Amino acid sequence: MPVPPAAPSVPVVDRPYRASVVALGKIGLPLAVQIAAAGHTVVGVDIDPRIVELVNAGRVPFPGEAGLEEALREVVAAGRLRATTDAADAVPGTQLVIAVPPLVVDDQGVPDWRAIDAVVEAIGPHLTDGVCFSLETTVPVGTTRERIAPRLEELSGLELGVELNVAFSPERVFSGRIFADLANYPKLVGGVTLACERRTAQLYREFLTADVREMGSAEAAELTKLVETTYREVNIALANEFARYADRAGIDLGPVIEAANSQPFSHVHRPGVAVGGHCIPVYPRFYLQGDPDAQLVAAARVVNETMPEHAIDLLARDIELAGARVLILGAAYRGGVRETAFSGVFPLVTGLRARGAEPFVVDPLYDDDALATLGLPAWDGAPVSGAILQADHAEYRNLLPTQVPGATSVIDGRGTLDAQALGNAGIRVRRIGGG
Ligand SMILES: NC(=O)c1ccc[n+]([C@@H]2O[C@H](COP(=O)([O-])OP(=O)(O)OC[C@H]3O[C@@H](n4cnc5c(N)ncnc54)[C@H](O)[C@@H]3O)[C@@H](O)[C@H]2O)c1
Repeated sequence: MPVPPAAPSVPVVDRPYRASVVALGKIGLPLAVQIAAAGHTVVGVDIDPRIVELVNAGRVPFPGEAGLEEALREVVAAGRLRATTDAADAVPGTQLVIAVPPLVVDDQGVPDWRAIDAVVEAIGPHLTDGVCFSLETTVPVGTTRERIAPRLEELSGLELGVELNVAFSPERVFSGRIFADLANYPKLVGGVTLACERRTAQLYREFLTADVREMGSAEAAELTKLVETTYREVNIALANEFARYADRAGIDLGPVIEAANSQPFSHVHRPGVAVGGHCIPVYPRFYLQGDPDAQLVAAARVVNETMPEHAIDLLARDIELAGARVLILGAAYRGGVRETAFSGVFPLVTGLRARGAEPFVVDPLYDDDALATLGLPAWDGAPVSGAILQADHAEYRNLLPTQVPGATSVIDGRGTLDAQALGNAGIRVRRIGGG
């Protein structure tokens, strides 16, 4: 990886400066607001005119982000944030361009580059001398140097590392508490050259109070995000292996993990019916693209993908599956979010059907039409023989017998169920890893 031998001196930045944030989604919009709230002037870019219109009216396009509504209203009213669909209107003359478009993947985790490429093509011709471009979308190692930087250099006509600075800075926040996370987690910046890194990091320091850490290369910053997420996938897989053993051996794993973790070197995660969402099932596959021989990472995915079947096996201990009506509680990949990417609901439906059962799905965040759109069989409300809790929605924490009429067995796939009411009604409750 070619990097200049000596780190350049700390660059001088204009205060306040002009910035542009491209893709005003759940991550990009709070980031744009954070920069504007620190006193800089921000023009946001999004291809969706509805989002642009709402942002310009000071209204949030999506619910659930703590503090965003008030902060957005304030920065828009102060004239420090506006939005546009046109990169030519936003990018020229800006010192910092941050892009965080989505990177969609297929069911094998293979990226569809269209959104990222479209951003590069749209902004490249409008970058001006001295600009710092930072990609925040999680990507396979090498993407910033090999895919992004050469094309930006070509489109802008600027010399990389001299007139054009390109860096990667992984987005590490959690939707819903982004401002708190931006304040608390170190911001990691890795440049295509050390000069790119220094200059870009300096601009981040102008709107963040958290430590801004220079990683030495774009690849180190890209890898850090993949390491964080792959660690979680492998750790959950380990907990899942322990759970499968505990269920065979008749040992309750819950207190075992709690006790093991009371010693500071042990950080075992919790077992569960499935690892879903846009991040944890996907980013280890990005890691494997760079390191295809990584056996542990590949094995973790395989182990985690067996867990829906394990939940079905636990149910089969109590009821005859052939011909049984089985209710799956939760279509979402986890509680409280309306998102089904890589959700365990899909393998549960397929797995139950393969055993001759008739699965039904219910979720407080999805009506029957929304479930049908996802290809999921909505529950008709008639009695069932058993149920599997797939998403830890708050509505299921104190599950009542009336929510699973007729069931004689319920599998708690998330370890979050208060089993008392069901137990009092004579319903058998089994937790994954519960022994
Ligand atoms: N949401 C999270 O909790 C989370 C967690 C980890 C990582 N991420 C990262 O952030 C990225 C973005 O996630 P998000 O949740 O903000 O997505 P999102 O779906 O909320 O928003 C994406 C936005 O990008 C816009 N967009 C798409 N193509 C564009 C283009 N060519 N030009 C301009 N705008 C375009 C869309 O209109 C939309 O407003 C993810 O791919 C991921 O790498 C998000």
